[in-house]
Amino acid sequence: MSEKNHQIHEKSPSQSNAEVIVRMFPSDANPAGNVFGGEILKHIDMVAGIVAQRHSQSNAVTVSMDSVTFLKPVFVGNVLKLNARINYVHKSSMEIEVKVEAEDIVTGIRTITGTAFVTFVALDNNGKPKHVPQLSLKTDEDRIKFKEGKARMDKRIKNRTK
Ligand SMILES: CC(C)(COP(=O)(O)OP(=O)(O)OC[C@H]1O[C@@H](n2cnc3c(N)ncnc32)[C@H](O)[C@@H]1OP(=O)(O)O)[C@@H](O)C(=O)NCCC(=O)NCCS
Repeated sequence: MSEKNHQIHEKSPSQSNAEVIVRMFPSDANPAGNVFGGEILKHIDMVAGIVAQRHSQSNAVTVSMDSVTFLKPVFVGNVLKLNARINYVHKSSMEIEVKVEAEDIVTGIRTITGTAFVTFVALDNNGKPKHVPQLSLKTDEDRIKFKEGKARMDKRIKNRTK
């Protein structure tokens, strides 16, 4: 594994947070107006990728998505807001948590409609996993998320199929 990321040893989670806002259109949904889960997954992957690349300052690819929930429906016309933060890093891998909120523009009602954990791996210029900066945990929330993220990552690695 490449260790060439020595310029920055540690970064706080807040340095890589990302938020994406996107409107849902009829082509994103079924004939009844319910937005496809796959459409939402695409945006989850994209916003998590921004966080992973901000943290690692390199290319980064998705290796797993888990605990994806669609708690409430998203409809055509809704404005989707996706918030992503980094919870945990190991060597090259990073766990990113994404929360999805849908806003009905007319009523102004905002609802949390989904959540997911996405694992990214940082790659060097040869496409090989590379070390990422460690996390500098600044807040109690950072410390709790890190601990919980580690427990989930340990499970992923245990269940990993090569
Ligand atoms: C990312 C990739 C290069 C890693 O290759 P690899 O041979 O699995 O490398 P390693 O076994 O050394 O694992 C590298 C890291 O990935 C982590 N990892 C790999 N698969 C994982 C999984 N399913 N869940 C969680 N972590 C995983 C390992 O734990 C390791 O983390 P660490 O460096 O923090 O300890 C390779 O899996 C790949 O190219 N996958 C396709 C990625 C892609 O294209 N995604 C887009 C959608 S297709």
